[in-house]
Formats: sequence, structure tokens, C-alpha cells
Amino acid sequence: MKILGIESSCDETAAAVVEDGRKVLSNVIASQVEEHKIYGGVVPEIASRRHTEAICGVVEKALSDADCTIDDIDAIAVTYAPGLIGALLVGVNYAKGLAYSTGIPLVPVHHLRGHIAANYISNEELKPPFMSLVVSGGHSHIINVKDYTDFEIIGRTRDDAAGEAMDKAARTVGLPYPGGVNLDKISVNGDENKYNFPVPKIADSKYDFSFSGLKTFAVNLVHNASQKGEEVKAEDLGASFIKAVTDLLVSHTMEAVKDFGAKKIVLAGGVSANSRLRRVMEEKCASKGVELYKPELKYCGDNAAMIASQGYYEFLAGKRADLTLNAVASMPITDK
Ligand code: KG4
Ligand code: ZN
Repeated sequence: MKILGIESSCDETAAAVVEDGRKVLSNVIASQVEEHKIYGGVVPEIASRRHTEAICGVVEKALSDADCTIDDIDAIAVTYAPGLIGALLVGVNYAKGLAYSTGIPLVPVHHLRGHIAANYISNEELKPPFMSLVVSGGHSHIINVKDYTDFEIIGRTRDDAAGEAMDKAARTVGLPYPGGVNLDKISVNGDENKYNFPVPKIADSKYDFSFSGLKTFAVNLVHNASQKGEEVKAEDLGASFIKAVTDLLVSHTMEAVKDFGAKKIVLAGGVSANSRLRRVMEEKCASKGVELYKPELKYCGDNAAMIASQGYYEFLAGKRADLTLNAVASMPITDK
């Protein structure tokens, strides 16, 4: 079964064709990063406009790269939530138009479910149940994935998302957008024990996260140093910050794995590309006898192959949308 996936929730216009949820026949991404870089982050209005310009060409390329025509497609899967509303609307309306004009079934896909599904592409043998750490620019969750379309939220951030925190820390040390990946790159050469970040604790939950205090700590550190005329090396601050964030992500996830008796951990979302998170999670899982699954780096960030993959499992579960489908800016992963 061939699914055409469409993704436009943030600043990538993406389309892909995936067979039976696992085999990627094409994966096209038109990134707007260079344009948003000027402003230090994604400008929603610009994102919507660029999606509108790019979407037809991106879908056509995804079909031709897969050696398909629209007649070969069995279902159209589209990201409808969560994300920037104007950006989401472009993909949703395009997908609705295509489904209406061709009679092909339309399947709505939650963006974070898609991030988890990226792992079905990269790890052929992976099947639920498992515990997933989903860390992106807008979300940080520990999710008990009971089945392909059955999710339970175990932990979540109380303030900033992990990716958002990475981006802000990167900006503090003068790195350009997209911050997280640049912070990762320079921090490889830094001393992660140079600065001692506080460990944020949440009184009533051992699984929830808080990252905003770490960000404030970084800002104050740079500020105080500059007032004293002292130098803060970006790579040392970056490495120490990444250590603080990833140690928190790893320890809370391991706690959830222990309490719920999970046998597998699945990393997902843009921050799952972080080199320290991948390495430390690998070490922890090896020492605890837990299997670790990660998406290939090309499927960590936003793409449409992951949406087509999850779309396949949503399709099998009977999920369909009609022309009343709307985009939703904020929606829990558990919503049916
Ligand atoms: O999942 P994603 O591509 O988009 C959202 O759904 O939000 O995640 C983007 C986030 C950004 O905050 C970006 O800085 C972060 O993922 N990110 C990283 C790395 N690559 C991307 N953070 C840390 N290390 C990386 N290597
Ligand atoms: Zn994403």
C-alpha cells in the first residue's frame, strides 16, 4: 500500500511516498531555514507563504522520485496538528483538495505521532509497545506507546521544550538559527563539566521536565561574566548546557522505563539528533539491558516520510478525514 505524506507544520514543506509504512520510495523537503535565519527564528507569516509557493512542486517531485503518479497512491496522509496554524493550513487544504479531486482517502496525522513513526522507517523490526522520549522544538514528552495508535503521556515539560531551550542557549552564546544543531556541533569540543547547572526538580512528578531555569542560568552566567570582563567559551557553556538538558531527559526516561517495565526506548523528534543524547542513552540502555531505537539523522527533523509511515498505521486503524478536516495548533497526542 502506497501512502503520500504531506507535512507543513513549521518551516519545512515536505512530501514523501512510503510503502506499507516502512519503505521510503521518496522523501522531498523544501527547507526555509535560510530565510528564517535572518530573524533568528521561524516567522509564522513567512512560513505560510513559502509553504503555499512550494507545496505543488514538492508533491510533484515526491511522486516522480517514487516513480509514481497520483493513481498509484492508496491514501493521502497529512499533518493536521500541532504546529503553526497558518503553516498547517497549507498542507491540510492542499491534501483535502487532492483527496477530493481524486477520490483517494484522506488520513489526518498528529505531528508527534509522525516523529515516533520515523523509527518504523529506520528500524525495520521495531513494533510497539515501547517507551518513547519525544523531544522537538515545541514539545518534550515521555510517552508510553502501547500500540501504533494508542498513546499514554507519562511525562511532559512544564515550560520550554528541550529544543526550544537548546535554541535559546545557542542564541545566548551568539550562534545562528537553527540553534540546537549548531550548539551540538561546537559543544563536541567543549568541557561539559566547566559549568554546574542546577538540576530542576518538580515536586509532584518524577517524570515531568522543566528547562526554563537552565536557560535563565545560562543567560545570567554570560551576563555576569561580561560584567566582570571574564570570557565564557561558547563550546564550554554549550557542552555544560547540553549535559544538563540531556542528563535530565535520560534520567527521567530511565525512571519511566523502570516503573512501567518497558523493554524498549524509542527516541524521536528534532532533539533526538543530538549527539550526546544518543550516546548517553546508548550507554544507559546497554547497562540496564534495555533496547534503544533511534531514527536515522535524516528522519529526526521534520519530514513527510514519518507522516506517511504513521498515516499507514492510522489508515489500518480506520482513521479517515473528510472535507471538514481543520488544522489545529495545539492537540495532545492522545486525542482520537
Ligand atoms: O522536530 P523538529 O525538527 O521540529 C519540531 O517539531 O519542533 O525539532 C526542531 C528542534 C529545534 O529546536 C532544533 O534546535 C532541535 O530540534 N535540534 C537539535 C539538534 N538538531 C535539531 N537540538 C540539539 N541537538 C541537535 N543536534
Ligand atoms: Zn517536528
